[in-house]
Amino acid sequence: MYKQFISPILDHLDSETWHNFARESLHFTENFSLLLKFTQLFNYSGKRLVDERLKVNISDIEFDNPITVGAGWDKYGRAVKGLWHLGFSAVEVGTVVLHPQTGNPKPRQFMIAPGVGINWLGFNSPGTDQIKLNLQRYKNCRIPIGISIGMNKELDEKEIAWAHGAVAKNLYDCASYFAVNVSSPNTPGLRKLQDKKPLNDIIEAVKDSMNGKKIKKPIFVKIAPELTLHAVDEVIEVVTDNNISGIIASNTTINSDIKGKYGQKWRQSQGGLSGDDPDYRKMVNDQIKHIYKQAGDKLEIIGVGGIKDSETALEKIKAGAKLLQVVTAIRGEGPFVAGKINTGLLNYMIKEGVSNINELVGIEVK
Ligand SMILES: Cc1cc2nc3c(=O)[nH]c(=O)nc-3n(C[C@H](O)[C@H](O)[C@H](O)COP(=O)(O)O)c2cc1C
Repeated sequence: MYKQFISPILDHLDSETWHNFARESLHFTENFSLLLKFTQLFNYSGKRLVDERLKVNISDIEFDNPITVGAGWDKYGRAVKGLWHLGFSAVEVGTVVLHPQTGNPKPRQFMIAPGVGINWLGFNSPGTDQIKLNLQRYKNCRIPIGISIGMNKELDEKEIAWAHGAVAKNLYDCASYFAVNVSSPNTPGLRKLQDKKPLNDIIEAVKDSMNGKKIKKPIFVKIAPELTLHAVDEVIEVVTDNNISGIIASNTTINSDIKGKYGQKWRQSQGGLSGDDPDYRKMVNDQIKHIYKQAGDKLEIIGVGGIKDSETALEKIKAGAKLLQVVTAIRGEGPFVAGKINTGLLNYMIKEGVSNINELVGIEVK
């Protein structure tokens, strides 16, 4: 019904406008408990699926299922509760940058085929202070919230690590975990921060921001799918040397052959592709398998890139990801997507006699 009737209508609207409308509609429902209950109808059984077998624990954070919302869907931290009622177990808010910035000129977000998107938003963010205010409303609701940290475009090189630490310090109370985003393709020079030295400096700054705090919030590094295996190994080394939680694989792809499948215009365009493209999905799955093989016993992997149903979710879990994120499929598959995936995962587990989702993590590489 969504894919047949609603999605084709949305295709005629500006993708970012629809996205903002969807987020603000969910935000609106958060003001009325009856409306929030109504959003639960978008789950298969009419309410959130809660089942012990789907529970995931990462760095002492409890997720009541493995399907979370990845960075970019709720950049403003305004729809956390609404998304949770749609069946997701957590939301990664952001990417958040220290000072407010508008991002790249519009239009900058597109659906280029069913379930496939390209964006070059460029870290549009209201800045840390506003995000802190927005997240106040979720203070007592026990929904895990990740804070994705990025850097402002106009930043002196010497300030980059410090700025990441400043975001973490300001948002410490709101965060269940931090994700250091050094992999967006839409901020010039950002991906260079995946190199050993700058990455190390950033992680140290984020760790230092928690000095004196009794509880240290887990830190993840989000990488680009194009990293060479050698570069991935260097990120693994930085993560394990610093004793932080793990890696989020991956961000959008700038691979021109993959973008080019959707037309010459997209091959040459700026921006990163996401969503239901089999080559992109494979690229990310291979990267997850590599990380799991190299360091599955030392760090946690959060998998993201092209997940749209329980099959594509299982691929990433079997490759080594313990927790998953979805972004583009919320538009491609519709608001039912989390409930649909979780129901599918549970049905698969029942059929295969698997008693806990964690048993499936990495089985394809073990
Ligand atoms: C519109 C849009 C905005 C995004 N913004 C961010 C962002 O701010 N920070 C980030 O780390 N990733 C961002 N991403 C990347 C996603 O978090 C995710 O890594 C990527 O889209 C692959 O997942 P998907 O195929 O489920 O969309 C964005 C993706 C989209 C589609």
